[in-house]
Amino acid sequence: MSATIIDGKVYSGALTAKVAEEVAALVRDHAIKPGLAVILVGEDPASQIYVRSKNEQSLAAGMHSVTYRLPAETTEAEVIDLVRQLNFDRAIHGVLVQLPLPAQISEKRVLEALDPDKDVDGLTVTNAGRLASGLPALTPCTPLGCMIMLREAVGALAGKRAVVVGRSVLVGRPMAQLLIGADCTVTVAHSKTRDLPGLCREAEILVAAIGRPQMIRGDWVRPGAAVIDVGINRVPFSDPVKAAAGKTKVVGDVAFKEASEVAGWITPVPGGVGLMTVACLLQNTVTAARRIHGLE
Ligand code: GUN
Repeated sequence: MSATIIDGKVYSGALTAKVAEEVAALVRDHAIKPGLAVILVGEDPASQIYVRSKNEQSLAAGMHSVTYRLPAETTEAEVIDLVRQLNFDRAIHGVLVQLPLPAQISEKRVLEALDPDKDVDGLTVTNAGRLASGLPALTPCTPLGCMIMLREAVGALAGKRAVVVGRSVLVGRPMAQLLIGADCTVTVAHSKTRDLPGLCREAEILVAAIGRPQMIRGDWVRPGAAVIDVGINRVPFSDPVKAAAGKTKVVGDVAFKEASEVAGWITPVPGGVGLMTVACLLQNTVTAARRIHGLE
């Protein structure tokens, strides 16, 4: 194995500690306690785990944190009502609506109801537009975490060729915008891209955000590249005894072992990008609190 592992635990630990200090300073100097509200509709098992972690970590950083757990049959109007209440709640500076929402609720209409200044997930059209225009924005947490790790592990990014595989609103598109902002030359690839392996081999920075287990193979990776794996895919164990027992494991969008023999840097799954996502959510909530109170 030749690649340097970009350890999410190290970077997220450092960021969370910095956020906790910023929270303490806001409380001490301005009597402002940053507050996060998370809305979870339904019983999606992965979402339950993420939401619990967001709540626990924001409390651990000294923030105010509330989780609204609504039944799967909640109507769109009820979710929008709650979002509007939180827009006016002075104890709350960040509101996150956990996705996906049940089929009867339009994500777009719920996000439209959210005050962009409290949109700590950076998913409103206003924040996406600010980011694309190079203006200060609340930026989606996962790509923000990828950028922090890239800057700190790799160093100077200007002029590098970056390929982002995946064009989702949550990750691929904002990731491309952040890389453009860092003066990279950026290509966004997706399911219709021709010769994806050849394109990936050109990338000095390769970001995999496709949601397909281990799709990116070792021979798609340019020697020395920085590989950022955003995938979180649950798959059966290859060991037939464990698989027969219904046991699953989490793998990324990159075939880690193969890729790590070629790459210069690589994020593991688990233990990479995922840990940074929550740390960045806490950071965004502090940023939102500061801006709402005119401190930035
Ligand atoms: N579901 C999976 N990841 C995310 C995320 O970053 N934000 C929200 N709101 N929902 C998600």
